[in-house]
Amino acid sequence: MNLLVKLSKVYKVYGSGEVSFQALKNININVKKGEFIAIIGGSGSGKSTLVNIIGLLDQPTSGSYDLDGQDSAHLRENTLAEIRNKKIGFVFQSFNLLSRTSALDNVAMPLIYAGVSVQDRRNRAKLALEKVGLGEKIDSRPNQLSGGEQQRVAIARALVNDPELILADEPTGNLDTKSGAEIMEIFDRLNRAGKTIIMITHEQLIAKHAKRIIRIKDGAIWKQ
Ligand SMILES: Nc1ncnc2c1ncn2[C@@H]1O[C@H](COP(=O)(O)OP(=O)(O)OP(=O)(O)O)[C@@H](O)[C@H]1O
Ligand SMILES: [Mg+2]
Repeated sequence: MNLLVKLSKVYKVYGSGEVSFQALKNININVKKGEFIAIIGGSGSGKSTLVNIIGLLDQPTSGSYDLDGQDSAHLRENTLAEIRNKKIGFVFQSFNLLSRTSALDNVAMPLIYAGVSVQDRRNRAKLALEKVGLGEKIDSRPNQLSGGEQQRVAIARALVNDPELILADEPTGNLDTKSGAEIMEIFDRLNRAGKTIIMITHEQLIAKHAKRIIRIKDGAIWKQ
């Protein structure tokens, strides 16, 4: 299956009746394996709503979403969680690391749910941290790391299960220019190695790293 993400006529409505709000309107997006896509749009344009749907954290109100050839409608929560864990590596603006836990254990976390043995978890987490240049910091806790380093831990965690898709929501949003550039270098390298990346941003310069830019405004795609 060469098509990894297929969104067809996706609408998302929050609430109902008079207080309802249409956050996504007729979204059609096809992402092939190996692509690097940026989704760019202003605040409130529907970017996170879209990411939540692509990440199987939320469902469209109407329309369909196929991930790697599988229709995501009507799946039970534990099946969704399994697919998420196996196929998607998430990177968030606020890193979302466990603050009292070492870099190594943060990165190893998704492997617990995947049923990997303790020794394998350690080895794979260490390897993932080495890949993002943090081989020397495996025992550090997030509060002992810089923002850029914390985001690299989060990327290592996203990679540790070798997912098909890296899904990033404003990955450089909380970083200074230099740390942001380092994170983008890692994304560039991952994409050259064949990883599919979908990245949300509101910064043109960051979006330029992607091979294709999708622009979203008021919940609709206006230039693709
Ligand atoms: N749970 C919700 N209930 C009602 N409205 C919502 C909900 N979540 C988001 N919205 C609305 O949907 C619109 C899109 O929100 P979304 O979070 O997707 O925007 P965004 O593009 O990610 O913005 P930002 O750049 O500020 O993160 C906004 O107008 C928001 O107020
Ligand atoms: Mg958002």
